[in-house]
Amino acid sequence: MDRSRNPYTPNAGAPPKFFAGRATEVDDFRVLLQRLLRGYTEQSMVVTGLRGVGKTVLLGEYRRIAGDEGWVPVDAEVSKHTHFGPQMANLARRALLQVSPKARWGERARAAAATLRSFSLTVAPDGSLSGGLDVEAAVGSADTGILTEDLADVFEAIGYAARERETGVIFLFDEIQFLKKPELEALIGAVHRTVQRRLPVTFAGAGLPQLPGLAGEAKSYAERLFKFPVIGELPESEARAAVIEPARSEGVGFESPAVDKIVQYTEGYPYFLQEYGRAAWNIAEGPHITLRDVEEAGDVVDAELDESFFRSRVQRSSPEELRYMRAMAHLGPQAHRAGDVADVLGKQSEQVAPIRARLINKGLLYTPRFGYAKFTVPQFDRFMSRYMDLDAVPPA
Ligand SMILES: Nc1ncnc2c1ncn2[C@@H]1O[C@H](COP(=O)(O)OP(=O)(O)OP(=O)(O)O)[C@@H](O)[C@H]1O
Ligand SMILES: [Mg+2]
Repeated sequence: MDRSRNPYTPNAGAPPKFFAGRATEVDDFRVLLQRLLRGYTEQSMVVTGLRGVGKTVLLGEYRRIAGDEGWVPVDAEVSKHTHFGPQMANLARRALLQVSPKARWGERARAAAATLRSFSLTVAPDGSLSGGLDVEAAVGSADTGILTEDLADVFEAIGYAARERETGVIFLFDEIQFLKKPELEALIGAVHRTVQRRLPVTFAGAGLPQLPGLAGEAKSYAERLFKFPVIGELPESEARAAVIEPARSEGVGFESPAVDKIVQYTEGYPYFLQEYGRAAWNIAEGPHITLRDVEEAGDVVDAELDESFFRSRVQRSSPEELRYMRAMAHLGPQAHRAGDVADVLGKQSEQVAPIRARLINKGLLYTPRFGYAKFTVPQFDRFMSRYMDLDAVPPA
């Protein structure tokens, strides 16, 4: 059918034509904002899930809801190369200027600007970040050089400025697994301060399942301040809706077994649903999308997924990393003990431990529990098996 009207969105972060499921995560978020604005406290949210399950899309939805609720959302994506302090200084400045334009700054906003100026000079002493605030830096505020303390001062100051304008500020961070432990601790500490003061400032984030910074001592403390919902495959009825509704919006229907087939193949993973929907639409002659169309589209879907979703993730892997992942794939999609993977490779665990560590560091594997590792990408075992023969792995 007409490709120019294809309503599916198999692209990273692309808001789907029909946003399926996630009702709990959306409701909880709305309630969080409403409660904070009323001066109540509530746990904020850090959403985790595998690649392609819809974390970025959900954060986008959070951004929209925040706007809807009269909040100021400021969002950012974290990367390995992010300089956290300067980034926070920029985001906080953006937040303050949206809470209140400079011409209408009240007492609290001016005080927040002074704190921000001080924070900017602390994280960038050359003054490169402190332009545009036009106030003297506040002495004794956000100037200790201890990130946790200083960021808490910033959140607090912005909180008072926001409250003065009867609004709130929410920082939305994507890919927070890239935050270093002290950075995540600083964010958690800053939220702790705003909770103590009952101020309408918080942060919500999304990232891969294993958030290294949350390990250990920071954890029990963090768990009182945050919920950690895990999102994944859509349940069957919602997966069906994700397939059916975009086509319906273009006046096109599906044969019911055709939808069954897509849901079964994709296991309800959002990215795969979008990819399959797109391929089926393009192959179909219309007016409906039939089971035959969907069966025919299968090879296209595999090829497209390999190209757009899987292959990019192996391209920067060394031959030994590839072999490690191929050995894991041989064992199936679930979490595997390091020793079992080493067995397939005919090696001792300790010999391959550095490879495993690198794959975790690159975000290709995560450790759902001690001693185990799992792919962060759904159906990656299937891909690795297509991509590479087990013969390429040295025999055990
Ligand atoms: N609730 C949803 N309903 C329907 N489609 C969705 C939903 N959420 C996400 N998608 C689709 O799934 C795909 C992946 O979404 P997104 O990029 O948000 O995933 P992600 O978890 O952020 O992935 P990554 O870990 O790779 O960043 C996109 O094509 C998007 O359109
Ligand atoms: Mg994402």
